[in-house]
Amino acid sequence: MAMVLAHVSDLHVSRFGEHVTSLSSRKTHGRAAPRSRGPAWEVVEIVDEWRIERRTEELRLVDDAGKVHQRRRVQPADAATLQQSFAAMVRERTRTAHDRLAANLPDANEVERLLVEDPTNTNLLFLRAARILVEDAPDWVLLTGDLTDDGVGYDLILAALAPFIERGRLLAVPGNHDVYDSPMFVVPAHARKRRTEKLAAWRAFAAQLGLPDAQYWLRELGEGALVCGLDSCNPALTPISASGAILTQTLRELTAALPPATPADCRIAMLHHHVVNPPVRAVGSSPWQLGMRLRNARTVYETLRELQFRCVLNGHRHVGYRYHPSHAPMFISAPSATLGCRSGSTTRPFYWRIEVRDGDLGSVRERTL
Ligand SMILES: [Fe+2]
Ligand SMILES: [Fe+2]
Repeated sequence: MAMVLAHVSDLHVSRFGEHVTSLSSRKTHGRAAPRSRGPAWEVVEIVDEWRIERRTEELRLVDDAGKVHQRRRVQPADAATLQQSFAAMVRERTRTAHDRLAANLPDANEVERLLVEDPTNTNLLFLRAARILVEDAPDWVLLTGDLTDDGVGYDLILAALAPFIERGRLLAVPGNHDVYDSPMFVVPAHARKRRTEKLAAWRAFAAQLGLPDAQYWLRELGEGALVCGLDSCNPALTPISASGAILTQTLRELTAALPPATPADCRIAMLHHHVVNPPVRAVGSSPWQLGMRLRNARTVYETLRELQFRCVLNGHRHVGYRYHPSHAPMFISAPSATLGCRSGSTTRPFYWRIEVRDGDLGSVRERTL
């Protein structure tokens, strides 16, 4: 029987399941409260440390970190009803806080029920994805970064994917959202986290998976498969860039560490950033985005090709594709498991189900989440 790898990416779990990323085509909630123009906002009710605020004909809902989750125009006669619905929303949002969900994982029916009320909640969508993964029972789960939206929520991942973690079958590399400074303009100043703080959280998480704190690591999976985790989250000097790079020193060390490949070896690299561009630009929407690239993609491509890697897994732009140049690895890009796919004929999230047998890559298929 072939060994099955699940390549899953960009979970973007967060405090309440809100997301700050600009990559989703879905409507976001949880924007930072903008500097107000016009009359001042007045607090009319506090629920669980969240504020319902009002000014003239508007009502808004602000969480305890200062993010605005809802803002609506309202006629005076309807204000009380809207205020009640905001209060109900607070109770719903705080129910989907990562720590509450992690401490008491809801069953599948409860997740689906909550998703009806809040269909874009990434914490809930992650729980749906995790349940499908556990049911599918691949031999290994490989996560290619952006596990969190802003460095918060690892406890939820540890809880929901525990069946894999307990057997040492979950491997992960970081994404820019996990370890780069919180983006300005979207996260309010007092809630912004620095890279050092986010790196510490990532390292604590990686240690629970049994992964070393290193720019690269190697892991034998069986069936001749050897996975190399590469940390591409080395930020540019340009502020707010989400680009990455593999350090030259890392590529040198990897080259020295790997003996010549034999036909029985199936070398698989995993990293967050894209080594090859989405090959088809005319289908769906997979735009070339400024500040998102792997800055030394050409060198990484050449190194992995020379080291005879069979496939290279990435996440990052939430586009799903595979591309296999001749005499080179197959490049497999996974969409977001929660925010969906920005290319192809569907926006539905999926993971790649990859078979390996006797050192050979078998089928590579999409599995809807
Ligand atoms: Fe992402
Ligand atoms: Fe990313």
